Amino acid sequence: MDTLILSGNKAIELGAQIIKSGGIVAFPTETVYGLGACAYDSDAIAAVFAAKGRPMDNPLIVHLASGKDILSVSCGYDERYRPLIDKFMPGPLTLVVKKRADIPDCVTAGLDTVGVRIPSHAVAREFIESCAVPIAAPSANLSTKISPTSARHVYEDMNGRVPLIIDGGDCDVGIESTVLDITGDIPVILRPGAVTAEQIADVLGSVKTHEGKIVAAAPAPGMKYKHYAPVCDCVVASSISSAVEEYCRRVDEGGNPVILCKSEHIGICGDIHTIGLGSDDNEICRNIYAAMHAAEKSYDCIICEDLGDSGLLGSVMNRVNKSAGGKII
Ligand code: TXA
Ligand code: MG
Repeated sequence: MDTLILSGNKAIELGAQIIKSGGIVAFPTETVYGLGACAYDSDAIAAVFAAKGRPMDNPLIVHLASGKDILSVSCGYDERYRPLIDKFMPGPLTLVVKKRADIPDCVTAGLDTVGVRIPSHAVAREFIESCAVPIAAPSANLSTKISPTSARHVYEDMNGRVPLIIDGGDCDVGIESTVLDITGDIPVILRPGAVTAEQIADVLGSVKTHEGKIVAAAPAPGMKYKHYAPVCDCVVASSISSAVEEYCRRVDEGGNPVILCKSEHIGICGDIHTIGLGSDDNEICRNIYAAMHAAEKSYDCIICEDLGDSGLLGSVMNRVNKSAGGKII
């Protein structure tokens, strides 16, 4: 199969045509690129799992064009969550709600809940509207690899596996949506993401976090898999000085490492290989995956400075720690 990369109206029209005839299409969102199929079409969903090499027990998020469509895939939600929907949807928030029977089990991995998200990216919304059906989509990377934040990243993993990549430029947010389960008495973050626990708590009063800040973990099924793995070695350094020490140690052993750090720390590192992630939290979040994609191509070890455990940088470090397989020096 040849993989086309197209942008503009032609791309959206062709994408909608492919979806309507039961195919799969990669498309941009503000978080990361998705690999979409009609959420009602079990065969098309099977093709998404096959293209990614994704385990069948990891459910997909269903993408909608507008808030009113939530009722087309779910049995509804408690009205106390409406302020959350008003504030963060469209945007990088996925809500886990009770699913409607006509959403096939393969989308939700047999769960009686479904993750719903309304992307804010204009191209994503036009694409979903043109398809006129809810679009089930995981991130458009091979399973276990780094999520794609550009059409080029998608192509590197999906060339020959998907007929069309709709190019909407670089993703603005840069890491995946926050997954929030609102089916129980207390809302629980199953996957930290671009909308932070603090932002959700501001709206709802409180929230349980995945990493047990308030209660024990209640992981999304996908959280148990190794994720965001670069093809090279990766470690987290607890400070910029320990990053430099690790760098020197690796060079002495004949390695070719690189340090990923806040841009203001590049000066401290001296004349060694570094990639600046930016200065403010949004910029760092936007750049993290692109930096890892670039680093794994040119170096044999990524040494990432620890960026903290709260707010948006806490969500970024959730991903980096997975890439490092928990290795901290
Ligand atoms: O930003 C995003 O969320 C991107 C873009 C494309 O929308 N999508 C994405 O999908 O990251 P994926 O499949 O790579 O990750 C979805 C996560 C997985 O951890 C999965 O287990 C969890 O959401 N999830 C989906 N449906 C769920 C459900 N019903 N209950 C619990 N967790 C669910
Ligand atoms: Mg993913």
